This record gives sequence, structure tokens and C-alpha cells, in this order.
Amino acid sequence: MKTIVVAAIAGLFLGVLVIWLGLYNVAANDKHLSITENLLEVVRERSIETRSASLNAPDLNNAQLIKEGAEHYAEMCTECHLAPGMEETELYTGLYPQPPVFNDPDYNNKPEKQFWVIKNGLKMTGMPAWSPAHTDEQIWGMVAFLQVARTLSEKDYKELSKPSGDGHNHSHGSNNSHEPDNSHEPDNSHEPDNSHEPDNSHEPDSSHEPDSSHEPDSSQGNTEDTVSEKQEPSHNDDGHSHSH
Ligand code: HEC
Repeated sequence: MKTIVVAAIAGLFLGVLVIWLGLYNVAANDKHLSITENLLEVVRERSIETRSASLNAPDLNNAQLIKEGAEHYAEMCTECHLAPGMEETELYTGLYPQPPVFNDPDYNNKPEKQFWVIKNGLKMTGMPAWSPAHTDEQIWGMVAFLQVARTLSEKDYKELSKPSGDGHNHSHGSNNSHEPDNSHEPDNSHEPDNSHEPDNSHEPDSSHEPDSSHEPDSSQGNTEDTVSEKQEPSHNDDGHSHSH
């Protein structure tokens, strides 16, 4: 009995020492041992299974629900989870654990579990909880979309996820073709024609440039005007533009 207590105290001391000396590497690019990985997976799956057991999915074949889900998905999820025809992103490759790709034929999971994860997020993985800004119905929509994701070609996906204007636009992922120049012209964010093109509203430029953004004339997208007024010419020139 005595030896067990001594061993336990020594073990605890050793554990604290390892933590305190910073010996454990928290870097995302230092992968877990496979035993740790397996253990974490069991913890995650059991936790989600238990918490989603009482959920009842609505009819996930409903075309309208799938369409709404596809739109939301395109707006909020593709940077991490990719989509049909999409190349790997920096977020996808850099995250650990790596987000699953739902259009991968090998991917499979229960809709109720997916719903629970989308609603509540996953601790220490990068997967956010989407419930604060989304109703259960909107979340079921995304789940409904996930069930068909692997069956879609790039073209089908683009068509399905094209915003239909339900007033719930998150300004991402619409694949409207922009004039290439637009990214250099902060004023375009105020162009009436562009107001249905959510992307421009995220252009950081306009918030830094109160002067030009209030100028009604330059808002007509006149290239000469805006080029001469441009105050941060190199802002989007680094090939690392974040506007979608
Ligand atoms: C910042 C990156 C990021 C974003 C954005 C993101 N996810 Fe995730 N997601 C993750 C990561 C990381 C995981 C967890 C992977 C793991 O635990 O192995 C995950 C897990 C999930 C899972 C659980 C999959 C499974 O079968 O275990 C679902 C479902 C999911 N995400 C759906 C979504 C949806 C829908 C959106 C958009 C509303 C979204 N995610 C946005 C990173 C992200």
C-alpha cells in the first residue's frame, strides 16, 4: 500500500515537472502519438454520440433545405472543409486535427452527430460553434447538404450554393466573377450595382479610407479616378488577397 502511494506521488510530481519545464510540445505541426490520437478520438466520438442521441433529424432530402444549407456552407465552411472542385486551402492544411472533407467518398458520419458538432463546435480543434447566429433549421440545412456533398460535381455545387438572396448573406464564397480591378478600388464597395455582391463589403480598404468612401463621384467605378486616389496601392497587390 505504502509503495503505491509513494509511486503515485512520484508519478504526479514527474507529470507536474514535465508540464512545468515545457517539455510537452503544443505545436500544431507536432503530431500526437498514435495512442494519444486514438484516445482523443474515442473521447470525441463517445461525447458526441451521447449528446446527440436524443436528436431527431428532419427530412434531409428536402431540396429547399439542401439548397439553403449549401449556401451557408459555401459562405462559412469551405476555407476549412473545402468543397467539390476546390483546392486545398492554408487553413485546411495548417489545422490539426485536420478538418474532414465532406465530398471525400471515404467520409461518413451520422447526421445527428454532424448537427451536434456544427451547433456546438469542438474544443481545441478550430471547429467553431455556429449556434449563436444560426437556428436549428439552418444547421439542419447544412447537415442536409453534407449528405449530398460527395455526389456533386464542381458545377453542380456552384449552382446549388449560389446565393438566392434570402437576406442572410455572410459575404463569403459567392463565386461571382469580379472585374480583376475591383480589388484595387475600394470605392466600388459603394457602387449600387455591387451591393448584391457581398464580397466587397469585406474589403478592409474602405474602412481605412473614409475620404474616398464618401465621395459619390468616384463610386461610379471610374478606373481613372480611383486609381489616382488610391491610397494603399500595394494593399492587394501581394498576391495574397483575401477577398473571395
Ligand atoms: C476554422 C476551421 C473550420 C471552420 C470554419 C469550420 N470547421 Fe468544421 N471542423 C473543423 C475541425 C478542425 C474539425 C474537427 C476535426 C476533428 O476533430 O478531427 C471540424 C469538424 C466538423 C464536423 C464533424 C465531422 C465529423 O464527422 O466528425 C462537422 C460536421 C463540421 N466540422 C461542419 C462544419 C460546418 C458545416 C462548418 C461551417 C458552418 C464548419 N464545419 C466550419 C474546422 C472548421
